[in-house]
Amino acid sequence: MPTPQFSRRDFQRAADVILSKTEHRPKVALILGTGLGSVADSVEDASIIETSELPNWPVSQVHGHKNRLVIGTLEGQSVLVQQGRAHFYEGWEMADVTFNVRVMQMLGIQTLIVTNASGGLNKAMKAGDLMLITDHINFPGMAGNNPLRGPNDDSLGTRFPDVTVAYDPAYGKIAREVAAKEGFTLHEGTYVYLSGPNFESPAEIRMLRLIGGDAVGMSTVPEVLVARHAGIRVLGLSGVANGTNETNTPGTELTHEDVLDAIANKCAPKLIAIVRGVLRSM
Ligand code: HPA
Repeated sequence: MPTPQFSRRDFQRAADVILSKTEHRPKVALILGTGLGSVADSVEDASIIETSELPNWPVSQVHGHKNRLVIGTLEGQSVLVQQGRAHFYEGWEMADVTFNVRVMQMLGIQTLIVTNASGGLNKAMKAGDLMLITDHINFPGMAGNNPLRGPNDDSLGTRFPDVTVAYDPAYGKIAREVAAKEGFTLHEGTYVYLSGPNFESPAEIRMLRLIGGDAVGMSTVPEVLVARHAGIRVLGLSGVANGTNETNTPGTELTHEDVLDAIANKCAPKLIAIVRGVLRSM
């Protein structure tokens, strides 16, 4: 039997450090992806924990990721906000990429709001739009890079989790209501997870459209799978940083700075409105 990289004891050890550094006992967690870190500025009465202080927590090197936990209150609810995440493309293992969610499980988190930056495959999507994730396609998982691979600890979750309804319909309904009330477009669709770090080639983009993808990105799905394994309810929101480019035209290449700019300036305000709406509904 292979030895798993981490065990329940490791998750609990990191959770205990968090519990020793804050009085808050959140039941809701929010993972902020690329360019969305400012959403944490709205948290009141915040305890701030550098993730480098947490044993085994992977510290991301990606520009624009702050590597902090901001634990406090938002809309009267106790929340744990994670700024920045570790990605598989940085060289982390799936067990590292999803360590955060296991620690959340130890903390008793019941709802995970997970966010990311993506490229819009669906031609209706423009840079700065937001998409409610209703389903996903897990390419690395299909090739064996699934965070649930390996011996299963039955105390954490079932061996064969069902992902028919990975993204909670009740939270999706609230997200739609908030968008309608605030007057912004909320797209819905399937998020395709690729390992990255390169953006997609024109041929890959054409293929991802053909198989039913609406947005493509380099994160989120491993965390969602572990959250569902842990019985945590999930709301997934994707900030569309750019339309994807199916041409081979020089001069139209995408940069990380383009992504950061669109997400921080256009997506973050809409995202915070939805997060507030969901928290108010609880
Ligand atoms: N592809 C993959 N990931 C991304 C993109 C993209 O076009 N934009 C932002 N994250």
